[in-house]
Amino acid sequence: MNRLRIPRPDDWHLHLRDGDMLASVLADTVAHFGRAIIMPNILPPVLTAADAQSYRSRILAAIPAGLDFQPLMTLYLTETTDPDDVISAAASGQISAVKLYPAGATTNSGSGVRDFDRVTPVLDAMADNGIPLCVHGEVTDPDIDIFDREAVFLERILDPLRERIKGLRVVLEHVTTCEGVDYVRQGGNDLAATITTHHLFINRNHILAGGIRPHNYCLPVAKREVHRLALVAAATSGDPSFFLGTDSAPHVDAAKQSGCGCAGIFTAPITMSCLATLFESEGALEKLEGFVSRHGPAFYRLPINTETLTLVKREAPIKVPEKLKTPDGPVTIFDCGQPLYWAVETS
Ligand code: DOR
Ligand code: ZN
Repeated sequence: MNRLRIPRPDDWHLHLRDGDMLASVLADTVAHFGRAIIMPNILPPVLTAADAQSYRSRILAAIPAGLDFQPLMTLYLTETTDPDDVISAAASGQISAVKLYPAGATTNSGSGVRDFDRVTPVLDAMADNGIPLCVHGEVTDPDIDIFDREAVFLERILDPLRERIKGLRVVLEHVTTCEGVDYVRQGGNDLAATITTHHLFINRNHILAGGIRPHNYCLPVAKREVHRLALVAAATSGDPSFFLGTDSAPHVDAAKQSGCGCAGIFTAPITMSCLATLFESEGALEKLEGFVSRHGPAFYRLPINTETLTLVKREAPIKVPEKLKTPDGPVTIFDCGQPLYWAVETS
């Protein structure tokens, strides 16, 4: 097979930033995706329905003319989030989910949750109203090794929370471990996970072996190869609990190539080529459609996009730019380490 036509995909976890960076990165997502769940960790964060509405207008204003794209907004959960604001924002379609960052877990997560008991009223209200909670699933306890933070989060935080708040619909974002995959597989209809492009390609050697590679550093950090293989198995299995959330997270090179570099990998421009290559090499090209176009809408209770996207396998590897130029400086595009033969047909 050298041609694949699928319903237009969606990205269920995306960082678009704001201002000049938003204007620079948005076109790459809009070119391939119909909708995206927009992360609220901009500065200042998206805390209220009014913030979400205003950020959404800035995104819509930055969409290149003639292209169709629906940003699905999220609120950043804090210990003072007002349950009524969440419920009314969801009821009116202003937001599609709420994002939980444990305080200090990642980029701009300082306003996140420290005491999980303090967000119980919001989570109860969300469970009653079927509003999904997108979870950055890592503990922040400095005593816990960074490679163990996801597995410990499941045991200490997420499982007790889901036991306590029955019916809460949870997306375990950017799952990176065998433990996470197993937990989601047996978690029932109220639990799903997104998988990023980069975690399907890199393990921790790609960050640390033969020199430190800041452009492969993200959070949750990539784990051992056995975990990457579990992610590939989950993504290509056809299990509707797993769907694409790229976590495409642009930072300028100066912020990545630093004594204390930022976490985040910018994958939006080449995600679809990377995924077609990976699914083909796994003998699972027919499962790509479910992963990128069907499972996400099913969980979020939205229709599948009616437009389509066509992937074409070329004779020679496609040319992938190394950087995206932005007014703030260059942003390095993810290098998956393999030649990419699959191109998105644009005309
Ligand atoms: O690598 C990451 N980058 N992980 C996150 O959780 C946040 C993101 C960002 O905003 O840069
Ligand atoms: Zn993210």
